[in-house]
Amino acid sequence: MSDMYTKHASKYGEVVKENIYNALLERPSTMAMLDNLSGKRVIDMGCGSGIYTEWFLTQGVESVTCIDASTDMVELVKAKMGDQVNAYVQDLSLGLPNEADNSADVIVCPLVLHYIEDLKPVFQEVYRVLKPEGYMVFSTHHPFADFECSVTKNYFDRELIEEEWNTVGEPVTVRFFRRSLTEITEAISASGLAISKISEGEVDERAKAISEDIYHHLKANPNFIFIRCDKLR
Ligand SMILES: C[S@@+](CC[C@H](N)C(=O)[O-])C[C@H]1O[C@@H](n2cnc3c(N)ncnc32)[C@H](O)[C@@H]1O
Repeated sequence: MSDMYTKHASKYGEVVKENIYNALLERPSTMAMLDNLSGKRVIDMGCGSGIYTEWFLTQGVESVTCIDASTDMVELVKAKMGDQVNAYVQDLSLGLPNEADNSADVIVCPLVLHYIEDLKPVFQEVYRVLKPEGYMVFSTHHPFADFECSVTKNYFDRELIEEEWNTVGEPVTVRFFRRSLTEITEAISASGLAISKISEGEVDERAKAISEDIYHHLKANPNFIFIRCDKLR
């Protein structure tokens, strides 16, 4: 687990409130793939500081469960939202052992899956926990964008990439898995989930006022990919 989500959890939670990549690209693009959440049982998988959960609570959901491998992140969520949510620590690569079969209407998993090496068991668990006709929406690094970091230069290899990110105002080492679109879609299909929508996102026009360079880069280059998958039965 990177220091980004432990030692710097609080700062990370502040930065993502208004930055371009999360607030003006990732979140609006993920939210655009969600139906009305009123009355729904939602799981925020890899909830981070709970920025999605805060929004879910304004949407009339029946319940939100917040899950993250970082104790610091879960503590932030508990401090902010108390007993409005059920928040607990769980490494998603070990599944969702606390969640019952057919119990969730919607599972949202923004910017988490690139930290997990083997996606197949994760999607199997999502399938088990979703109710029939439930769905999952997730975002992750765009395979095309991440290929720029490839060391092997073989797009179809899965590679553990190490980078320094300045997200919180100082360089922090982050490791993530780069993989092909085929690897992602095959893990989904193997679980029984059906992909119903793929999007490459769209940066909000307000980004231009913050950084013309980043705005024009994101207008011309994919950065994240957004996938909705449904449990049809
Ligand atoms: C980029 S942050 C995204 C947080 C939140 N989804 C958001 O969009 O603001 C990634 C989150 O994934 C969590 N994470 C990373 N690996 C995980 C794992 N194996 N199981 C559960 N959570 C994990 C991190 O602790 C961190 O909170």
